[in-house]
Amino acid sequence: MCGIIGYLGYRRADEVITRGLKRMEYRGYDSWGIAVNNGGVLNVHKCTGSIGDTGMLDLGDSTIGIGHTRWATHGKPSDTNAHPHLDCKREIAVVHNGIIENFLLLREELSEEGHIFASETDTEVIAHLIEKNFDGNLENALLRSLKELKGSYAVVATGIGERKLVGARYKSPLVLGIGDGEYFLASDVTAVLEYTSRVAYLEDGDLVTITDSGYEITNNGVSVEREIELLPWDLDAAEKGGYEHFMLKEIHEIPRVVEDMLLEYVSDTIHLDVSFAAGISEIIFLACGTSYHAALIGKYLIEEEANIPVRVEYASEFNYHRTPMERTLVIGITQSGETADTLEALRGARSFGARVLVITNVLGSSATRIADEVIFTRAGPEIGVAATKTFIAQLIVIYLLASRLSMPAPDEMEKFITEFRMLPEKVQRILDDSEKIQRVGNILAGYDNMIYIGRGTGFPTALEGALKMKEISYIHAEGYPAGELKHGPFALLGAKTPVVACVVKDKTYDIMLNNLKEVKARGSLVVAIAEEDDPEVEKYVDLVVTTPTVESVFTPLTYSVAMQLLAYYTAARIGCAIDKPRNLAKSVTVE
Ligand code: AGP
Repeated sequence: MCGIIGYLGYRRADEVITRGLKRMEYRGYDSWGIAVNNGGVLNVHKCTGSIGDTGMLDLGDSTIGIGHTRWATHGKPSDTNAHPHLDCKREIAVVHNGIIENFLLLREELSEEGHIFASETDTEVIAHLIEKNFDGNLENALLRSLKELKGSYAVVATGIGERKLVGARYKSPLVLGIGDGEYFLASDVTAVLEYTSRVAYLEDGDLVTITDSGYEITNNGVSVEREIELLPWDLDAAEKGGYEHFMLKEIHEIPRVVEDMLLEYVSDTIHLDVSFAAGISEIIFLACGTSYHAALIGKYLIEEEANIPVRVEYASEFNYHRTPMERTLVIGITQSGETADTLEALRGARSFGARVLVITNVLGSSATRIADEVIFTRAGPEIGVAATKTFIAQLIVIYLLASRLSMPAPDEMEKFITEFRMLPEKVQRILDDSEKIQRVGNILAGYDNMIYIGRGTGFPTALEGALKMKEISYIHAEGYPAGELKHGPFALLGAKTPVVACVVKDKTYDIMLNNLKEVKARGSLVVAIAEEDDPEVEKYVDLVVTTPTVESVFTPLTYSVAMQLLAYYTAARIGCAIDKPRNLAKSVTVE
């Protein structure tokens, strides 16, 4: 995700900002830029690539400026699309985090009024709006401009002619760092920790004005105070936003990811063009690892809801048994967009005449170049090797896709969207309740083997739970359809092998309870992942991890978040290298 920094003080702004941007590199980015305000002129440097490769810049000895790391959303990664963005007269510079939903309309209106746009970004409209609304006072111009925006933002701006920095936030973080005679605005405290540990977190609707004589925060035009907090973190921890591991931070970002995806793809209907699926006779999903599990869940949903035959193939096996595919839609799922096996399988599918849709989290990745169509998961960069928030984002795309392909009646669609909108809050409740999951994780940390089971969508959900557990805790964990246990794995049951069961309250429920009875009778510790309104399940198991009640079709989402936490806390108890498990890489670029 993008990172913002603004500085006003007594040090060279280009140095402070470059260092701050380097501190935020972990967030992931594809391009970056800095503007320093040299009084009569804005000196700007913008480029794609890594800041790490750059020495200190020389943009003049100005002590006020802004900087940004960009993770492309509107417009490809390029020097031009990198922030800061300027107005027509190059007098105002703006950096922005978030998404301006109505930017196309604003851009059209501003263009008609004579504003000339240099980039494809949504952010640039903010610079032009400030220019339009400027009457000698930057904060008033920003305030008026913000009133025209729909969407989310953390924005920082500076203009020539005055030593002033203005910033505002709405649904995107912005923190004020308060030093001795110097001030910082940043999306992340890592950027300022080197200089100060006194910070104030801005709230939605806040607008801050910084000059040499201090700062003032207003909300809706009214002056407000925000508590100054003393940061307890060292630099190392802060790079993970205060979380001990990126994985935990990324799990905690899930409610926000779901909200962002709702903003992007859902209003009173689902905005996903599925014309690419016209006339197809089958769908084949191609993927690896966690993305493969997302695909398996997709099979259940699409076959059930859209009545289209679906196959799911390991990308690494696909090239050994493919058939002609003129009427096949191949859907490649890959978080990174760079997984070699998936890329190769997609190329193979294309050569056999398939239409190729790619679901990925990385704009501009290799998979997007093979695809006929791309749907982005918009989860932001994921640093931890274990896929967490990106898996949930993949599932969300799959739900939306299944729903669009099935063409539900308007009242069903309304019900689906209403349920969807409740998900961020429900996931947040799982996170808020994670101490209970931690207690179960502490118990599981004492075992060497585990079996995960499920039925229906609970089965691939269990597979993913087992993968998460094995990759970060190094405990051997296998996923099985609950009905398969009797056909072999039963031999493993006993006091040394706990069983984690995904219990879904749908047509699989009763038979699943029977299976749990059978498992329990063989002496295994049984942990159920179940919904909070299900007291019945407690009678069949030893421990229950409860999640908020959702429509049963959505349990793969809620159960997966709970099982990500379960794996995390188990691995944490053991003391594993959670973010970088041995032998694994985030992006697997060899076959
Ligand atoms: C899961 O936690 C792993 N990181 C791994 O299984 C991953 O999902 C797999 O390597 C596929 O990666 P991709 O989604 O980037 O293609």
